[in-house]
Amino acid sequence: MTLTPNTSPAPFIVIEGINGGGKSTLLSALSGWLTSQGLSFRCTREPGGTPLGQQLRSILLGSPTPLCRETEILLFLADRAEHVRSLIMPSLAQGTVVLCDRYTYSTVAFQGYGRGFDRERLAELNTLATGGLRPDLVILLDLPVEEALRRASARNQAPSSERDTFEEEDLAFHRRVREGFLDMAASLPEQFLILDAREKPETLLNQAQEAIARLLPHSRLD
Ligand code: TYD
Repeated sequence: MTLTPNTSPAPFIVIEGINGGGKSTLLSALSGWLTSQGLSFRCTREPGGTPLGQQLRSILLGSPTPLCRETEILLFLADRAEHVRSLIMPSLAQGTVVLCDRYTYSTVAFQGYGRGFDRERLAELNTLATGGLRPDLVILLDLPVEEALRRASARNQAPSSERDTFEEEDLAFHRRVREGFLDMAASLPEQFLILDAREKPETLLNQAQEAIARLLPHSRLD
């Protein structure tokens, strides 16, 4: 089953990548830029973009005992189904730009490439969860796994940092996840923008802004 494009007046933008790639930094810089342009936008994330999603997030990332693969997939999909229908679609329908930290591609990368679950079945399950809603742009922050894990572990030293059981997986798991993202980007070149996450934050912001500005032809953008 193929996904259908977003037909609403506002673009749907997704940021993806392995852990430690700097998604949060880019999202907060993009939020600052969109605010300065006076554009209506909503910044959200998966898992955890809705009240139900917050509960699912703490189960998914903080479970004291590992969840079985199928449970994990179904919980990510439940988070997504709720998120798409209660937040993403209504926002887009109102003309609000949506910036989303992770989407269907994370499920394919982590549960498909990482955990080895059948990727065709995941594609069908993703379509069920999203109702076919596909983003206009996927910004993939890519960098070598060793460097990403170094960054993630430095970030986790902060007392306020949230546990993420995926960060406890081995190097081979994260390498498969990275390869998964790169494979998807290669097969959907018109949808993906791959950024080298080792670049300076200002460079990454400029490159992302350029791609987003192309989706906003009627806006006045600096
Ligand atoms: P996130 O909060 O983006 O973590 P980080 O900021 O460290 O990149 O994502 C939470 C974790 O959930 C992340 O390790 C990836 C994982 N994940 C999946 O395994 N499958 C999914 O479908 C999604 C959305 C996230």
